[in-house]
Amino acid sequence: MNVLIADKLSDSALTDLKALGASIRFEPGLTAKDLPDAVSDAEILIVRSTKVSADTIKRGENLSLIIRAGAGVNTIDLEEASSRGIHVANCPGKNADAVAELAIGLIIAADRRIADGTMDLRQGVWNKKLYGSASGLKGRTLTIIGMGSIGRATAEIGKALGMRVAAWSRSLTEEKAKEWGVVYCSSIEKAASIADVLSIHLAAGKDTTHLIGKKVFDSMKNGAILVNTSRGEVVDTAALKEAIKSKGIKAGLDVYENEPGATEKDFKDADLAAMITGTHHIGASTDQASEAIASEVVRIVEAYRDSGKPLHQ
Ligand code: MLT
Repeated sequence: MNVLIADKLSDSALTDLKALGASIRFEPGLTAKDLPDAVSDAEILIVRSTKVSADTIKRGENLSLIIRAGAGVNTIDLEEASSRGIHVANCPGKNADAVAELAIGLIIAADRRIADGTMDLRQGVWNKKLYGSASGLKGRTLTIIGMGSIGRATAEIGKALGMRVAAWSRSLTEEKAKEWGVVYCSSIEKAASIADVLSIHLAAGKDTTHLIGKKVFDSMKNGAILVNTSRGEVVDTAALKEAIKSKGIKAGLDVYENEPGATEKDFKDADLAAMITGTHHIGASTDQASEAIASEVVRIVEAYRDSGKPLHQ
């Protein structure tokens, strides 16, 4: 098996893949632009953030499996892969706790304005009055949009903080909500209307693009918190900016529309950055999650070697 790894992967995973008989090219510095030239002799391509375009897939004449070392597969041109009969596998659930932890971090940071306060301290400014009022979380309603593994993990931490947790997702039923100990919301607007904190955990796709838009923001309470650790395109950025200005919505974001690639340095929406608490799409970036993902990648390659079929997707 010729395996091209185009993003970081742990040393132990590289050793394990070699032990499976794979011949490894480890090139974690490759960009999406480099990938079409690099992929020609690879049978298996492993990526995390590097985008896999239709061109890359066309040029990968020997490709039979693409593994996304993460949960979402929106960085891969699935149409082209499927038209060429190339399998695409992901690692669902393996970074759920890491992303949930960051979602909670952003919620607290947005409520307490931790980033703004730090910036003032760095300028030598002490401003206890300005930062002296926050909503607090205990007894407040945390509404989860999207109850996959990350949404459920976030709900559990919210409960541990004493929050009342409600949820909406397309497939959520009253029975499931009861089983997971969350309040069932029959519509996304209803879910938004009761939220003190709205935490978004949706996969990217045509049906979720800009799902969190004007209608949802209009339903939210003034001054409520919105956190997105899922995919940037799920939130309509223009509508969010408007809601921040007109309703005092406090936003904590880890993902953005037109997000830079992993190796790019330019963040183009400084306007938005000035209005939010933000991180750099690092939800899954903990040692624990990286190890869990790396082990899953090895498991997928092993299963593929033995059966010709991918796990997942
Ligand atoms: C995921 O899809 O699991 C994450 O977004 C991974 C990443 O950091 O790119």
